[in-house]
Amino acid sequence: MTKTAVIFGSTGGIGAATARGLKAKGYALHLAGRDAGRLEALAGELGAGFTAGDAREPAHFADVAVALGERSVDALVYAVGSINLKPVNRLNDADFLGDFTLNALGAARAVQALLPALKRSEAASIVLFSTVAVAQGFSAHASVSMAKGAVEGLTRALGAELAPRIRVNCIAPSLTRTKMAAALTGNEAMAKAIAELHAIPRLGQAEDVAGLATFLASAESGWISGQVMAVDGGRSRLRTKG
Ligand SMILES: NC(=O)c1ccc[n+]([C@@H]2O[C@H](COP(=O)([O-])OP(=O)(O)OC[C@H]3O[C@@H](n4cnc5c(N)ncnc54)[C@H](OP(=O)(O)O)[C@@H]3O)[C@@H](O)[C@H]2O)c1
Repeated sequence: MTKTAVIFGSTGGIGAATARGLKAKGYALHLAGRDAGRLEALAGELGAGFTAGDAREPAHFADVAVALGERSVDALVYAVGSINLKPVNRLNDADFLGDFTLNALGAARAVQALLPALKRSEAASIVLFSTVAVAQGFSAHASVSMAKGAVEGLTRALGAELAPRIRVNCIAPSLTRTKMAAALTGNEAMAKAIAELHAIPRLGQAEDVAGLATFLASAESGWISGQVMAVDGGRSRLRTKG
């Protein structure tokens, strides 16, 4: 029987590449995103259903669940995120709460809304996203690191709570060339300097990360749960100089 994957953040670099990876594995797709025009175009290309909405709003998740009806969901990918880099003295409550709502609470709300559909699957998988900036401290990352640290905790808690029928894993990328990172990667001198901080001295491409997301979402990773996996050119663990 055809399996179904739901991808939030599907118009993003990693979300779209993961959608293509799962489509190639034969999954039927339901795509969620905030830009209705781009979402409809992508859904048309991939033969997918879609639901437009803002992932900061609880109603968006209910809308996705309604659109799915009584279908079972075999894979849920929450590839939504923000990058909001400021020194801690310039962050206000709205920054912290906004990043938390989008990155962490949104992931929890997506799981809650789709839990009945995930439970209808014989073996379902949830893939969430953290960042290298949780395992490795970076200045100006307080807000995003707090929010993504919560995603890592959520991954382990849900991995335990939903086992064995639903697996839950998380991917922690380093700087990857997508729209979100454009402020950093758009400056080639800065991009080169950051690339050289990696043991594998380049920045990530969406496909580097989507390859793991597709694997974790699929049954091929059927004995992996509760893990936070780095796709980071060695940035969180390796030091080649000094
Ligand atoms: N790229 C990196 O360097 C990097 C590093 C560490 C972690 N990550 C994580 O990787 C995941 C995928 O990000 P990406 O690199 O693919 O970035 P991206 O291309 O900018 O994608 C981010 C996605 O989030 C969506 N989004 C943002 N705010 C939203 C909102 N309020 N409501 C609904 N959707 C919203 C974006 O929608 P639009 O398409 O409409 O903008 C986009 O689809 C994220 O969780 C991110 O935090 C990325």
